[in-house]
Amino acid sequence: MLDSLGREINYLRVSVTDRCNLRCRYCMPEAGVELKPHSEILSLEEIHRIIKVGTRVGIRKVRLTGGEPLVRRNLSRLVQMIRTIDLIDDVAITTNGLLFPEMAGELKEAGLHRLNVSLDTMNPEKYSFITRNGSLKQALRAIETALALEFHPVKINTVVMRGINDDEIMDFCRLAYNHRLHVRFIEFMPVGELGFWSRDKVITCDEIQEMIKREYRLSPWKLSRGNGPAKSYRLEGGQGSIGFISPMSNHFCHECNRLRLTADGKLRGCLYDRTEIDLKQVLRQGGSDEEILQLFIKAINLKPNEHKMGQTSWGSKNRKMYQIGG
Ligand code: GTP
Ligand code: 5AD
Ligand code: SF4
Repeated sequence: MLDSLGREINYLRVSVTDRCNLRCRYCMPEAGVELKPHSEILSLEEIHRIIKVGTRVGIRKVRLTGGEPLVRRNLSRLVQMIRTIDLIDDVAITTNGLLFPEMAGELKEAGLHRLNVSLDTMNPEKYSFITRNGSLKQALRAIETALALEFHPVKINTVVMRGINDDEIMDFCRLAYNHRLHVRFIEFMPVGELGFWSRDKVITCDEIQEMIKREYRLSPWKLSRGNGPAKSYRLEGGQGSIGFISPMSNHFCHECNRLRLTADGKLRGCLYDRTEIDLKQVLRQGGSDEEILQLFIKAINLKPNEHKMGQTSWGSKNRKMYQIGG
């Protein structure tokens, strides 16, 4: 379905849990998160039903997010259930990877097409600092496993933060040059009000690209699956590719194709906009598919034209990043 700006909405990001096995400084409060009772979280059957109705407004691609999606019990079964919906042609996850090696086989079998792994640094101490005690080794094992099992493409999400990991930009390029990986550099966004973001930590994708161009020749590139908001390039002569996601310096709202479903059953039209439509309530009161469909249409019609990042503050009443799924 097209929204009022003519954007085709075909992508649903489904957060399957608020929980996470890490506490990244830009995402989670140090004290961890308030755990919601299980009854507040959508069941696998409810998620499946919502996605199925979503195909009637044109949803074709589903990404499972969190928190950390792999901590949700029976995630592989959910993947399998989503794969039974004929019109869905792309099922992906965004994960920190820590639990991936032990789950990779069952996820592959369930029909997962691909994954994006969050990795902001390749320095063990820094990884532990950013994630508050996470193990880099474990995250790297996830990437190795994904390549070995031939998930494709395997993308790496790297949030670039000045003074934290900007000295590793060329290391990440080398990673993409030497392996069949797609590394995406992401501008640091002021989401979540956790006190870690500051304007001086933001490095624009233009700056990053200038730096990279001194060493590599870049040629525009289109990935086989999921071009999301990234501008992608091949590193000439190399194995992999890189991409730039620039929500701060050059936002992509005019071509935004997505809706978000929170773990507690609310549809959001925008990462940054607080407007939510409650699907769970309707679902649990015995609502029909037709009623759910109408709520999808409402959410699409309420989708803001563009985000107001940098102009309005996030607001303490808004959710945190781990409650939206990025
Ligand atoms: P592909 O399907 O592989 O292209 O994935 P994706 O880029 O849509 O998803 P992913 O979860 O890997 O997100 C990558 C980065 O883009 C994260 O930092 C997200 O927070 C950010 N991002 C994703 N969608 C949006 C969006 O609608 N608006 C903004 N501002 N940022 C987004
Ligand atoms: N700015 C940019 N990206 C972010 N992510 C989490 N918080 C931010 C932020 N403030 C990324 C994570 C993950 C994805 C879902 O969102 O690193 O890869
Ligand atoms: Fe967990 Fe991802 Fe948030 Fe880090 S960024 S705390 S891995 S949900």
